[in-house]
Amino acid sequence: MRDALYSHVQRLPLSFHDRWPSGQLLARGTTDLRSLHTFLSLPLTFLPVNVATLLVGCTLLLVQNWFLALVFLIPVLPLVALGYFLESRYALASRRARDQGSDLTTLVVDSVLGVRVIKSFGHHRHLTRAFRLRAHRLRGTELRKARVLAALSALLVALPEAALGAAVAVGAVQIADGDLSAGTLLAFLAIALEMRPAVTSTGLLLAMSGEAATAADRFFDVLDEPAPADAVAGSPMRRTPAGAPPAALTFDHVEFRYPDAPAGEPAVLRGVDLRLAPGETVALVGATGSGKTTLAALVPRLHEPTGGRVLLDGQDVTTLPRAELRGQVSVALDEPTLFSASVAENVLLGADHADEHDLARALHIVQAHDFVQELPHGVHTPLGEHGMNLSGGQRQRLALARAVVGEPRLLILDDPLSALDIHTESLIEAALRSVLATTTALVIAHRPSTVLLADRVALLSGGRIAAVGNHDELLHGNEEYALLMTALGSAGNLLHSGGTGEFR
Ligand SMILES: Nc1ncnc2c1ncn2[C@@H]1O[C@H](COP(=O)(O)OP(=O)(O)OP(=O)(O)O)[C@@H](O)[C@H]1O
Ligand SMILES: [Mg+2]
Repeated sequence: MRDALYSHVQRLPLSFHDRWPSGQLLARGTTDLRSLHTFLSLPLTFLPVNVATLLVGCTLLLVQNWFLALVFLIPVLPLVALGYFLESRYALASRRARDQGSDLTTLVVDSVLGVRVIKSFGHHRHLTRAFRLRAHRLRGTELRKARVLAALSALLVALPEAALGAAVAVGAVQIADGDLSAGTLLAFLAIALEMRPAVTSTGLLLAMSGEAATAADRFFDVLDEPAPADAVAGSPMRRTPAGAPPAALTFDHVEFRYPDAPAGEPAVLRGVDLRLAPGETVALVGATGSGKTTLAALVPRLHEPTGGRVLLDGQDVTTLPRAELRGQVSVALDEPTLFSASVAENVLLGADHADEHDLARALHIVQAHDFVQELPHGVHTPLGEHGMNLSGGQRQRLALARAVVGEPRLLILDDPLSALDIHTESLIEAALRSVLATTTALVIAHRPSTVLLADRVALLSGGRIAAVGNHDELLHGNEEYALLMTALGSAGNLLHSGGTGEFR
């Protein structure tokens, strides 16, 4: 079940991950599955034993003396009804406790991952208070659960005792009347007492079954989320054969709206038309929040367009198997994500079958070979969680290496050089030029220096491509572009453009 959960979560679309907090998923894979495990290993074996004991016991009692047996068994009816009522209350409380526990986990995950920000803003006191509040709420729910369980257990102990007392009293009267032998009453009591542990332990078993049912519900909450049919986790990416020609990329009136966007808000992309010829490098420029990253994410189908089409070599990407599509398209998103694995593993994530040679080449391109060599075990040095033991620029270079290692037919770089000093930036730029020469590329750029890597520039504005041209044309012909580049770029970079000076 854990395997199924993990691989399903891997296959689920990004829109699912936007909705589901990490703690909820984490708790489902750990505590929920553990309580199912506990249920399967203990209560599940005891329940049939208990049921058999009770059935055989009741039959023997009825055969021995049906009148006494009825006196003993009649309280069972209210017991079942009350037990059912309490059990359903317990199930509700148990579900709430689990959801609250998961919220608590989310808070812990967030604060562990964001520990640097939290410390530097002195935010820990606030978080501790938030944690205490949630923990207190969870404690309240757990106490409610304990109370219901206590009531259930008390009922399951007291009612059978009372019934047994009644049976003994009636039996004594029958003996006095000479209707019953003392031996028969003793035998009756012996059987009834033998059944007692089965009745009293049923309370706990029911509670554990309730917990397991809740856990199963929560497990299937995730497993029932539909995953795209061809998003097979673990299916190898098909790597482009070496020397495959660059791809053509076309955005044909692409529209996109995030599923959780507020109703009145306009869609992020409202009819993007753009064509990248094979081998061409196009820079995508736009104000922050204009939808550049969103547009880039549509190509490897991290999101599906809500209108229009994205075409790779004239073929709608939605008709391509994902494994094939992602083997041809490589993406470095704006936030470099590294995993708790070695440098080599992090980079080679970008391509199956890539070897040491490809790794070295990629590290050279992104100017990472020097600092990687200085790490204690070179490319085999394990990176800390999220690569936090590297500098921002080093992380960015490794993420970039991952994008170029597989020699993709289409390369998408989201602001690839943002965290680098000018010297490293120019070194990488020089190396990137050789990569960009052999592939089609969409480079999202905030700075004139990055824009200059491209053959053409497209300006994304108002959810559309507002202008296309080369850097100089747009700088002089398009006010918005000029503003973006002068506001964000440095004066030194502008000198590149050979402009008239009005923007310096
Ligand atoms: N997962 C999401 N769910 C809902 N809305 C989102 C999501 N991601 C982004 N948005 C919204 O979509 C818009 C475009 O975001 P996007 O990340 O594409 O901008 P961008 O052009 O890449 O900006 P930047 O230059 O700052 O990286 C923003 O208004 C943002 O609030
Ligand atoms: Mg972005």
